[in-house]
Amino acid sequence: MCGIFGIVTQKEQPLGQILTDAAERLTYRGYDSVGAATLSGAKIDLRKDVGRVKDVAAQYHFAEMTGQRGITQLRWATFGEPSQVNSQPHLDSDGDLVGAHNGNVVNNVELRQQFMAEGMTVRSMNDGESCVHAVERYLNRGEDFIQAIRHAYHDLQGDYSFVIGRINDDKLYAFKKGSGLVVGLGEDFTCVSSDLPSLLPLTRKIMRLNDGEIITLAADGVELHSVQNGCLILREPETVTETMNAVQKGGYAHFMLKEIHEQAQVAREVLNMLNGSPDVAAVIEKMKNARNLYFIGCGTSYHACLAGAVYFAQLAGRAVIPVLAPQFAPQYAPTVGAQDVGLFVSQSGETKDVLNALQVAEEKGMTCYGLANVIGSTLTKATVCALPLCCGYEISVPATKTFTNQVVTFLYLAYRLAGRDTAELETIPALMTQTLETVAAPVEALAQKINAWSDLYSLGYGATYAIALEGALKLKEITYAHCEGMLSTEFKHGPLSAVTKGLPIIFSVAPGDVPLIVSGLNEVTCRGAYAVAIGQDDPRLRANASDVIILPDSTPQIAALLAVLPLQLLSYHMSLLRGFDPDFPRNLSKTLTVD
Ligand code: G6P
Repeated sequence: MCGIFGIVTQKEQPLGQILTDAAERLTYRGYDSVGAATLSGAKIDLRKDVGRVKDVAAQYHFAEMTGQRGITQLRWATFGEPSQVNSQPHLDSDGDLVGAHNGNVVNNVELRQQFMAEGMTVRSMNDGESCVHAVERYLNRGEDFIQAIRHAYHDLQGDYSFVIGRINDDKLYAFKKGSGLVVGLGEDFTCVSSDLPSLLPLTRKIMRLNDGEIITLAADGVELHSVQNGCLILREPETVTETMNAVQKGGYAHFMLKEIHEQAQVAREVLNMLNGSPDVAAVIEKMKNARNLYFIGCGTSYHACLAGAVYFAQLAGRAVIPVLAPQFAPQYAPTVGAQDVGLFVSQSGETKDVLNALQVAEEKGMTCYGLANVIGSTLTKATVCALPLCCGYEISVPATKTFTNQVVTFLYLAYRLAGRDTAELETIPALMTQTLETVAAPVEALAQKINAWSDLYSLGYGATYAIALEGALKLKEITYAHCEGMLSTEFKHGPLSAVTKGLPIIFSVAPGDVPLIVSGLNEVTCRGAYAVAIGQDDPRLRANASDVIILPDSTPQIAALLAVLPLQLLSYHMSLLRGFDPDFPRNLSKTLTVD
């Protein structure tokens, strides 16, 4: 994910180090290029390139940059390959505006054509440049800056935030639509950034922006306008007093809870990224022509692979072999070759088990793709092409938002392989928000009810089999209980003997599987189990389960994805009830770089 930062001071001064430090604070978001621009009087100094902040700043002598205003941006490539020209910030046609964005402008391709037809100089493929030209277009028509931004905002579709400045002005302007943007107010400066923690070393007086707001930054204060009607918005700044740790938790008690609630937003971001990614078509083409297709991962990432394999079969009629990474070498390596394609899935991109499998696959000549959250990780560098999960930093050890974005990515790829319109998937973020709202209270009550048990089962079928395994893993990781995840139909082949009065058995149910699950529910309730069904509202579930957690209506595939949200929350609450810290469970590590 990209990150932006802008600062306005009273007079020209050294800004290079401030911009470099701000860029460093945003690096956790993942990036491939970095740039900085300073403005003073009629001069813009713009330096940018592909590479690490440290290296680009040293090579281009950022430390020497002076200005009255400055902008820095970290770019993770979506529109346009990582290159100097596609790096941000960007200039307008005449070089008197400079700006940078974070997010995705989904109509970038159409906009670039329009700008060129209107005679503007378009230098790159990047959508950040489109943001600059969108403002230029209206400034050229004689509009003032706020008016120009208001019009540009309506032309630029997608989720993004943007900061822009022009020569012979002493202000910066920024606007927010979907991506994060926070303002900082200092003694004799103001600044703006993609996130709050990156502002805190500079000031603790901040102002949070909402979507549809334009902020004008001057050295002595800020002014807020509504995009809708151009009216001034009055908002008092707030003073952040919490520790950095608490600030990073964004008001939530734990990172896990925060990350659970970020799922709708990051799902939106990954869908935007996938819609705009030039890599997707190439990956799909390769997959279409592959002899065998393997999805490979460990832990949570493997569960996403399992869900992905079901989606590919159900939606695109394509068989996929999901593999636990360490099993790849003994079970599949002897049979694979250049005609096969592997998608290696890992939040961290550093899991040794996954990298070992990747090495074997590459030796066999397989085409290897990556799906990872940490950009710049070994996996993303070692594969032909790695799709980003766009989740930002996931701090809590139990993976939540990275799992759902892995599943969303698989669903998207299955739709594309099937030639289906992916617009249907745009309902996912709102459905996630709705799910989190409606299940919050019943899940907390369920946690109280079943918390005494240290033996549980989590069952699913079809795509919810993967979800059941993931729910069981979450419960094991942070409650330290034994929870077995199983295919629901397998329960009768042995584990049924474990059923005693009150034993909690959770069924994740996709619509269409209800009759089968009703049998499973009865098999266990008639022996005294406490059977919980997580699924869409259905009288058959209500009549046959001991308890139901209701999901909003959606497609069978999306329903499976939504079912993991109550399981994440259930494990979170049970962890707290047991007095544990869900963010940092004993014995576990977020990234396992050992065999
Ligand atoms: C560790 C973590 C798990 C994670 C697994 C795979 O075991 O504790 O939560 O699912 O590694 O991690 P990856 O980064 O490859 O997705």
